[in-house]
Amino acid sequence: MSESLELIRDEGKPEAPALNRPRRAFIKSYGCQMNVYDSERMGDILALEGYDFANSPEAADLVLLNTCHIRERASEKVFSELGRLRAFKETRRAAGDEMLIGIAGCVAQAEGGEIMRRESAVDLVVGPQSYHRLPDLLRRARDGRRVIDTDFPVEDKFAELPALSEPRIRARGVAAFVTVQEGCDKFCSFCVVPYTRGAEFSRPVAEVVADVERLARAGVREVTLLGQNVNAYHGEDERGRTCSLGRLIGRLAESPGIARLRYTTSHPADMDEELIAAHREVPALMPYLHLPIQSGSDRVLAAMNRKHSAAHYLDIIKAVRQARPEIALSSDFIVGFPGESEADFEATLALIRAVGYAGAFSFKYSRRPGTPGAERADQIDESLKEERLARLQALLDEQRRAFNAETVGRTVDVLIEKRGRHSGQIAGRSPYQQAVHLDGPEELICQIVPVEIIAAAPNSLLGRRVEETHSAGECPT
Ligand code: 5AD
Ligand code: SF4
Repeated sequence: MSESLELIRDEGKPEAPALNRPRRAFIKSYGCQMNVYDSERMGDILALEGYDFANSPEAADLVLLNTCHIRERASEKVFSELGRLRAFKETRRAAGDEMLIGIAGCVAQAEGGEIMRRESAVDLVVGPQSYHRLPDLLRRARDGRRVIDTDFPVEDKFAELPALSEPRIRARGVAAFVTVQEGCDKFCSFCVVPYTRGAEFSRPVAEVVADVERLARAGVREVTLLGQNVNAYHGEDERGRTCSLGRLIGRLAESPGIARLRYTTSHPADMDEELIAAHREVPALMPYLHLPIQSGSDRVLAAMNRKHSAAHYLDIIKAVRQARPEIALSSDFIVGFPGESEADFEATLALIRAVGYAGAFSFKYSRRPGTPGAERADQIDESLKEERLARLQALLDEQRRAFNAETVGRTVDVLIEKRGRHSGQIAGRSPYQQAVHLDGPEELICQIVPVEIIAAAPNSLLGRRVEETHSAGECPT
């Protein structure tokens, strides 16, 4: 699945049009937060290459689709977007104008060669492990070559990426992502990630600390540590010792200006004692844990190669709740994994009732080529998957609404992130990831404000300020 080659266009090298303005890029991100982070980092590279950013693909000289391969529908969206882009490109070319189309992310990694063969409009394919090589790939693409780089390079991509610049950080806002771990060695039998993102890798502690401190100096107050399997983090510290995610969190909480830390996504088998202790000991670690279980049936969990049982998961939840009683929980669920019986599905509903979730993501099983689940003969009918998903989501929805309703009347700290939809309104997030809208001046952006919640809508809360703001540090003006 990994290749690095260059194809010379049949039509030869096109005349590069002379632009009397900076080139403009448009990056569209699909899928998970790690892709959002990668898109931001690709944007950092493009900014250094002199690109401005366009608000739409039509206005761009370079369109990068940062793709997701996790479920069928995710990659279908990319191919339909490519159809639209091909039309823009043809119009531009007829006007003597250049438009490059690049495919990045996990579809690029898994199907890069195929995309190049099927879609002649694509100029560039770059995998998630090699996008630090974008400047060189772009130069070659602008020279009229069609380039693919889906290598898993030996060099550390993160060390090769440009240092985070202050204007680019400010463009991210007060809450930022930092990837600390990539890849996965778990090989759940439904999942493409170990194939598209490769083996587990943890960034060294010093690199992560430097990134977080740089973000904090430019006004970031909340950092979400990202990894496909983030709690498997085992980065090397300055003394050459292995550092767990729990210890890394303790260390980052000391960074001046960082008021909130989160991490996602975790695997139950990697919830170790240091991480659970961090939930007790580190106030900056927000009381919200996304811990996917996928199914409540041990039979299905074994078939999924999840390496934990439902009881083990419930024990972890109990320990985390002991460590931080107010913690709210979220999870991922898959319905209709091959062989899932009605009783298996009922076990998932029972687990959901036993835990009580504040939020969750739920999906119909999607057969991914190359994964063991796809080979199974006992695939479940689409209509049955749909019916189960609707039942599961009804229950999860009820729990989310109940959780939001319980917040009404309480005062919670809200990190103000931006202006609200209406004039005079500002918006931010509660410790539990809920979107909160309230009346207040824009100067509060970047501050943590105690807010009394007065009403709950399905996807957000309405609140009012109750007292003085406590600043988390120097905010950017
Ligand atoms: N089908 C459906 N959902 C999937 N996920 C991963 N692979 C598949 C698949 N083949 C879901 C899991 C995972 C989340 C990121 O996406 O729930 O936790
Ligand atoms: Fe995929 Fe997560 Fe399983 Fe890894 S742990 S294989 S990323 S679902």
